[in-house]
Amino acid sequence: MRITTGEDPAFLIAQAADAIEQLVRDTPDAVLGIATGSSPEPLYAEITARVANGLDLSRLRITCLDEYVGLAPSHPQSYRRYITEHVLEPWGIDADTAVLPTGDADDPDAAAADFEQRILAVGGVDLQILGVGPNGHIAFNEPGSSFASRTRVVDLTPSTREANSRFFDSEAEVPTRAISQGIGTILESRHALLLAFGEGKAPAVRAMIEGSATEEVPASALQDHAEVDVYLDDAAASLLGRH
Ligand code: GLP
Repeated sequence: MRITTGEDPAFLIAQAADAIEQLVRDTPDAVLGIATGSSPEPLYAEITARVANGLDLSRLRITCLDEYVGLAPSHPQSYRRYITEHVLEPWGIDADTAVLPTGDADDPDAAAADFEQRILAVGGVDLQILGVGPNGHIAFNEPGSSFASRTRVVDLTPSTREANSRFFDSEAEVPTRAISQGIGTILESRHALLLAFGEGKAPAVRAMIEGSATEEVPASALQDHAEVDVYLDDAAASLLGRH
């Protein structure tokens, strides 16, 4: 893992945006994996600003990591809606080309299998953006997920539903299940870029980087990934030993 820390999140975001811009300049039809959540939002806004300044992303292909089971595409908290608003529309990318799971499918297991097949069909992910949950989850792979897991329907832990309830009117409205890329699926991305900001992420960040690789900390699976860049503000990095 290459770890970059800094006091100023804007400096970190600019570096992460540079990695996306370089990828697209080298390979205009590259596959970029989008994470949802608050951590990558400033990165998507920075890319939107670069598009306004002439960066052409029209051939970029987009995949996502996960989706709540049971939310219609139009639901304000569906990840499809997030990606449409933060990525597809502002970046000028045809929504029909994006690889997203169907959250409100009649058969979520079939929808998960179809999602995995479509990720493979685009040739896998060139650059995967990631956040990390306070309990160390990546995508919606909760503690205990196998490092070999593939895309599937998962149960959300009470702590994740509580953490994500800030986006809903009440915790009761947070879905109990999600379709999530597996850890094994995520590890096949050719390059991963993880963002974590704030002291609330510091314990998960320490376990991810300095703990042993264990399924109790899903993000620690990234220790076995050959190309990972981690961007941390000083608060998220505050529990790391000096290296
Ligand atoms: C959700 C998503 C994850 C994301 C995590 C952290 O649970 N499924 O992909 O990394 O939240 O989100 P935030 O960046 O808002 O802290």
